[in-house]
Amino acid sequence: MTQEQLVELLNDLSLDEKINQLFQGNGSFFTDKGIATGPAADQGFSELAISLCGSILGADGAEKLKGIQERYMANHPHHIPLIFMADVINGFRTIFPIPLAQGAAFDETVAFEGAVIAAREASAAGLHVTFAPMVDLVRDARWGRVMEAVSEDPYLSSVYADAIVEGFQGQDAKEPGKIGACVKHFAAYSAPVAGRDYNNVELSERTLRDDYMPAYEAAVKAGALLVMTSFNTLNRIPSSANKWLLRDVLRGEWGFDGVVISDWAAVEEVVFQDLAVDKKEAAKLCMEAGTDIDMMTTCYCDCLKELIESGELPVELLDEAVLRVLELKNKLGLFENPFKDASVEDEEKYILCEEHRDAARKACASTFVLLENDGMLPLSKEEKVLFAGPYVDEHGIFGSWSFVNDWSTTVTIKQGVEAKGVTAAYEKGCELLHKGQIILGMDKKYEGTVGKKQTKEMIEQAVEAAKNADKVVLCLGEHRAETGEASSKGELTISKDQIKLLSSIAEVNENITVVLFCGRPLDIRKIKKLAKAIMVVWLPGTEGGNAIADVLYGDAEPTGRLPMSFPYSVGQTPVFYGEFKTGRHFEPTQTENRFQSKYLDIPNAPLYPFGYGRGYTTFEYSDVTIEGDIATTDKVDLTVSVTVTNTGDKKGQEVVQMYIRDDKASVVRPVRMLKGYMKIELEPKESITVLFPITEEDLKFHDINMNYVVEPGTFTVFVGGDSTTDNSAVFEVTEA
Ligand code: GLC
Repeated sequence: MTQEQLVELLNDLSLDEKINQLFQGNGSFFTDKGIATGPAADQGFSELAISLCGSILGADGAEKLKGIQERYMANHPHHIPLIFMADVINGFRTIFPIPLAQGAAFDETVAFEGAVIAAREASAAGLHVTFAPMVDLVRDARWGRVMEAVSEDPYLSSVYADAIVEGFQGQDAKEPGKIGACVKHFAAYSAPVAGRDYNNVELSERTLRDDYMPAYEAAVKAGALLVMTSFNTLNRIPSSANKWLLRDVLRGEWGFDGVVISDWAAVEEVVFQDLAVDKKEAAKLCMEAGTDIDMMTTCYCDCLKELIESGELPVELLDEAVLRVLELKNKLGLFENPFKDASVEDEEKYILCEEHRDAARKACASTFVLLENDGMLPLSKEEKVLFAGPYVDEHGIFGSWSFVNDWSTTVTIKQGVEAKGVTAAYEKGCELLHKGQIILGMDKKYEGTVGKKQTKEMIEQAVEAAKNADKVVLCLGEHRAETGEASSKGELTISKDQIKLLSSIAEVNENITVVLFCGRPLDIRKIKKLAKAIMVVWLPGTEGGNAIADVLYGDAEPTGRLPMSFPYSVGQTPVFYGEFKTGRHFEPTQTENRFQSKYLDIPNAPLYPFGYGRGYTTFEYSDVTIEGDIATTDKVDLTVSVTVTNTGDKKGQEVVQMYIRDDKASVVRPVRMLKGYMKIELEPKESITVLFPITEEDLKFHDINMNYVVEPGTFTVFVGGDSTTDNSAVFEVTEA
């Protein structure tokens, strides 16, 4: 439809039709026969709201959605199509590594390809929009949703945001195999006080703009069709009712003209946050702030009519929101083709197809982070290996935002090792949950059933097996349901049973490799003490077992680097590399100086830093050189150069990382900031010269007056294999 036709349609709609275009219902409200008023009525949704709602979430399947669309449009007075939205975060049915793992790849093409494949499968299943990318900046491992994000670093998160939007939407979301992207959670949901989900977020505007906003802005600039408001209050104003955030920044400064959708029930939660006295006031505040769609509450559908008819809310605000929803439907091509790509035939062709599985398997190895390897890996097929631990034959190795219908489609470690024709021993050793431990997962309730006595026997059995093994691979970690939404934790260690298993085996066999499943950085001090090799595999998804076997036996190399710092202990969180100098910066040599910025009981440095990881070879870096003579506060055009050599005897990959420090500015600046990275692969003894451009965009920040500028002065460039490198050079920027 043309814009004129959309406006004509808008003007032809009744008030009820307009209002309910802004209501997003749930797939459970519809059956293949029509409206399932039962669950809807129980939640207070009227039949009118459901029959006129603009979109639904949480349903999928070509046949099902085509049926719903057909009956819905036939009954709608203007036959306007529904938008079908869902959380397709890291794969639809072919599940990729969780987004934090993808961030560990330090290769945005991994995330791009994952989004392309997810869009192909999801669009065949009738979906039009995904609630992704989630690019909240994550620096607090207590918060369970770090698993859905990319990184603690603004630059890495921004590069991925752009790639993921393009992977989902392509150049035009109405194209076959593409779906609309919805960047979330706007804004700064990932910095809740005390790391507790949904809690208030207090950040200075400068921290917001320099650290937390860039990735959202990158997604908007990449053309994301929607933005989702976050649950949290941002500096004591709920995001869904935050006019500065939605109208001044998002639309005013960034020029976003797409749809703003609230998170689930976030509009009504403005009442619970004591900003609104009732649903009617919540509806008014959120509409005035610029939240277009109310996800799953009756605030808009029950209250907007009275607000409009009483003149408390200008009809223009309603019309602008409804027009944006109609424009979104138009951008998705739904007026011409309301079923878009829904096709049973394509579901069968694409979902979990070999090409997708192969891509997922390859992606996994690039996300695995090898933290320690004292002669353990790769294994040889002739060695007698015991695989032990609760994850040894576990299918639940996919993230909590993946709703896998058939768990057997995920490959376990045991299956992956056996598929290599390797004979090995397997002992579970203990369960992930102890007897009586209950975790309410996103998909179901998990309950531990094995008691102390049986656990003791399982551990003893594993210890016996370990006595006869050359090496032991212990597959440990946190339960998949312990990460994701509403999964904040005050402790970051793995379970006592698993530590007991590890320490018992270590008494009889010191050749231990730990394969660690997690959705967040964990406190792995005990593991580090007892294992000779540690590989973080996150939650690797469908092909996890095959990929882990590939890497353990050297058919692939683990090439991930930490996208979030691994803390020494939870006491350090939030901990991240881009910290600030203090007036009493900790100097380890000053052992007699009490008055330094330090802890009495733990170190300042994380156990493993951002950007750290090893592979199966070693690399050497030349000194850093900087070429170019344009460096003024208006324009910077420099090139950083370093030569990297593979000094080992195996081919291997390295993530060359470039950081910049603004040595002095009108406000204090981070000790360094990532401004470039490149994943390279070198044959043994091969060298390559890596070049990084530096422009003025790399040096801008919000100065003492909140102007986004480059200030004159010296800058130090660091280039190395992680965020602790001191391989550096200096350049100077002069006043233009
Ligand atoms: C959830 C999440 C959000 C998700 C939405 C729809 O509560 O916060 O990330 O997209 O609801 O499922």
